[in-house]
Amino acid sequence: MPTLTAPPPPPPSARTRSSFQPAPQLELPSVSFFGRTLAEYTQFFALNLPALRGRDVLDVAAGPSSFVAEACARGIDAVALDPLYGSTPETLATHVQLDYARMLTQMRAKPGLFRLKSFPSLDAAETDRRLAVQRFLTDYETHFVHGRYVGGTLPRLPFFDNAFDLVLSAHLLFIYGTRFDFEWHVAAGRELARVSAGEVRIHPLCGADGRPYPKLAALRRELRASGIESDVVRVDCEFFIGSGSMLVLRKGAS
Ligand SMILES: C[S@@+](CC[C@H](N)C(=O)[O-])C[C@H]1O[C@@H](n2cnc3c(N)ncnc32)[C@H](O)[C@@H]1O
Repeated sequence: MPTLTAPPPPPPSARTRSSFQPAPQLELPSVSFFGRTLAEYTQFFALNLPALRGRDVLDVAAGPSSFVAEACARGIDAVALDPLYGSTPETLATHVQLDYARMLTQMRAKPGLFRLKSFPSLDAAETDRRLAVQRFLTDYETHFVHGRYVGGTLPRLPFFDNAFDLVLSAHLLFIYGTRFDFEWHVAAGRELARVSAGEVRIHPLCGADGRPYPKLAALRRELRASGIESDVVRVDCEFFIGSGSMLVLRKGAS
């Protein structure tokens, strides 16, 4: 006769015996409003700062990075773009407070995801990023009205074709590869190339687990089909594991 009683659950030892351990990764429930300094940008984009004096440089997904403030102070015509620009400095400071707390907690909880190559310690990295945000907030308050900080969202940028000599984008493409799909990445790559008369540099090329973006080869093929050549270039900088390279895009001769 059939029984109505459910079979007993397996003993705890059988349920917990599996050796499967998810790979450690950064938990990124939303895109963090987190930023770095010009010194860090110089390393992970292999920038030649003296050669950029008087050049038009765009930083896409710039967040609270101080790159543009510091670059402008060195005579580079730099502009930053981020979806949150247009918010008041107080609102941005609140985003910073929440997102920095979340990110810095993770840095300390998952030290295996970080390499102390560019910084002597996690404390030194935190100090550097806090300096970046202080400099950004001061500059934003003064220069938002002058068009140095532009609100906008990939994959559509509010700029003319070839408007900049160099276009940079750090810590948005690839690292949020599970939030933005492959088509978004292709569209973003094309759009970054559209507004650049020279190169586009994108860093890093890994996901939140430090592993290479799995569809990079397919992405490069799609871009090539649109007339955009690309190279993977090693850079002398690694803080987050797997972040020691950048993607360089150039429009081919048409
Ligand atoms: C982790 S921060 C990177 C800041 C800076 N580039 C750096 O490397 O220090 C990522 C930034 O991307 C911005 N963002 C989110 N979605 C975006 C989109 N679709 N287009 C452009 N920026 C976006 C966020 O507001 C955030 O400020």
